[in-house]
Amino acid sequence: MPPSKCLDIEPVYGIKFILGHPEFTKAEAMATYIQQLASKTDPLRLVVTSGGKLAPRKLVPPHIENLTAYKPGRPPEQLKKELGIEKFINLASNENPLGPPPNVIQAMQEALPEICRYPDSGSYKLREALGDKLGLNIDNIAVGSGSESIMANIVRAFLHGDDEVLTSEGTFIGLLVLVKAQGVKLRTVPLKNYSFDLEAIADAVNDRTKIIYLCNPNNPTGTIFTKQEFDVFIKKIPEHVLVLLDEAYYEFACDEPDYPDSLSYRLDNILTLRTFAKAYAMAGLRLGYGLGHEYLIDFVNRIKLPFEPNNLAQAAGLAALKNDDFLEETLANNRHGMAFLQDAFDKLGLQRVPSFGNFILCEMGSQEKVNRIHEELLKRGIAIRPLAAFGLPTCFRVTTGRPSENHLLVKHLKTIL
Ligand SMILES: Cc1ncc(COP(=O)(O)O)c(C=O)c1O
Repeated sequence: MPPSKCLDIEPVYGIKFILGHPEFTKAEAMATYIQQLASKTDPLRLVVTSGGKLAPRKLVPPHIENLTAYKPGRPPEQLKKELGIEKFINLASNENPLGPPPNVIQAMQEALPEICRYPDSGSYKLREALGDKLGLNIDNIAVGSGSESIMANIVRAFLHGDDEVLTSEGTFIGLLVLVKAQGVKLRTVPLKNYSFDLEAIADAVNDRTKIIYLCNPNNPTGTIFTKQEFDVFIKKIPEHVLVLLDEAYYEFACDEPDYPDSLSYRLDNILTLRTFAKAYAMAGLRLGYGLGHEYLIDFVNRIKLPFEPNNLAQAAGLAALKNDDFLEETLANNRHGMAFLQDAFDKLGLQRVPSFGNFILCEMGSQEKVNRIHEELLKRGIAIRPLAAFGLPTCFRVTTGRPSENHLLVKHLKTIL
C-alpha cells in the first residue's frame, strides 16, 4: 500500500525527485510512481521503505556486498586477436606446460560414454587409490573440484560467528576471498623475507583463532618454511586450532631435506590440501584433495556438493596416479627451467626470491616497472603475473615453461629491460 502522506524522497542511484513538481502534488500518485520506477528501472536494487523512502535494497549481507569478483586475465584467443599475435605463452598461472599426459587423455576418452550418468558421489576408487599411495584410509580423504573447492568446504564447515582465521600477508588470495565471503574475520601478520613468519603467527593466536592457513611452498613467493621451523611452531599451537596446510606445490618441494611433509606429522588438527592442477597438469579439469583426521574430513564431505568431482575428473585422477614417469618428467622440466631462469634473472640483475615451486617472484622496486614489463611481454605474446592483488604491487611472478618458452621469455626481458 502506498503511504498516505507526503513522501520524503532522497536521490538514489542518481535519480533526482523534485519535490513540489506539479505531477507529484498527490502523495499517492508519487508513491505509485516510485513503486513503478523501482520495479521498472531497477527492481533488484531499489525498494520503497515503509517510511516512504526510495532506498537501496539490502539484497545481500554487507560482507558479500563488499566482495570484489575475481578478475581473470583476458582469454588467450582474445589476446591473440587484440594483439595480432599467433602464439601465446601463459607463464602467469603456475600451470604445467607439459601436460596433460597421454594416459590421462585416454582415460577420459574411455570415460566419455559415462557422462550421461552421475558420477560416483563418494569418488570411492579415486580415494582408495590416493589412500594406497599415501598410506591413508579413505575416511581420511576428501576429493573435490580443485583443492580450492575443498578449501571452500572447510571454510563453510568450520567457520562462523566470532571465529577468526590467521595467516600471513602475501599468500594465496583464494583463501582470503572465501573467508570474507563467510563473513568471518581474517587476521594477517607480515611476511618475513618473503616467507611465512611462523613465530609471529604463533604469537598472534588468540581465543577466537579457529583456523591457521599456511601455504608451503607459498604462492606467490615460492618460499618454504622448514621442518625445524614447523616443529617449533606446531608445539605452540593449541590442539583445538585447525592448521590448514596448503601444499598445492608439494611435488616440486617434497624432495628438499628441510621440507616438512604435513602428512608425516599425523596430528589430529592438521588438514592438508593437495591438487592435480599443478604437477599433474590438470588445472582445467578441476581436481584436488584434502587429507586429515576422519572426524574433520567427515564434516568436509557433508558440505561437499554430492557429485563433484565429475566422471572425467575421477577417471583422469586415477590415471594420473599411475603415471610416475610423467611426474618425473615434469619435475625434471621444472628443475631445468628454474635453473635456467634463475641464472638468466641473476645475469639481468633482477632481484628474485629463491623458490621451491614452479614459479619465481621478482621484486622490481616499483609498480610502474612491473606494469610496464607485464604490458611489454603481453605485446610479445607472453603473460606473467603482476602481484598487486596479492599485496605485493612491486613484484611479479613468472611460471617455468617449456625450455623454448623460457628462452623466449629471457630474450624478450633482455630487450625490455
Ligand atoms: C597455493 C594454492 N592453493 C590452491 C590453488 C588452487 O588449486 P586448485 O586448482 O586445485 O583449486 C592454487 C592455484 O593456483 C594455489 O596456488
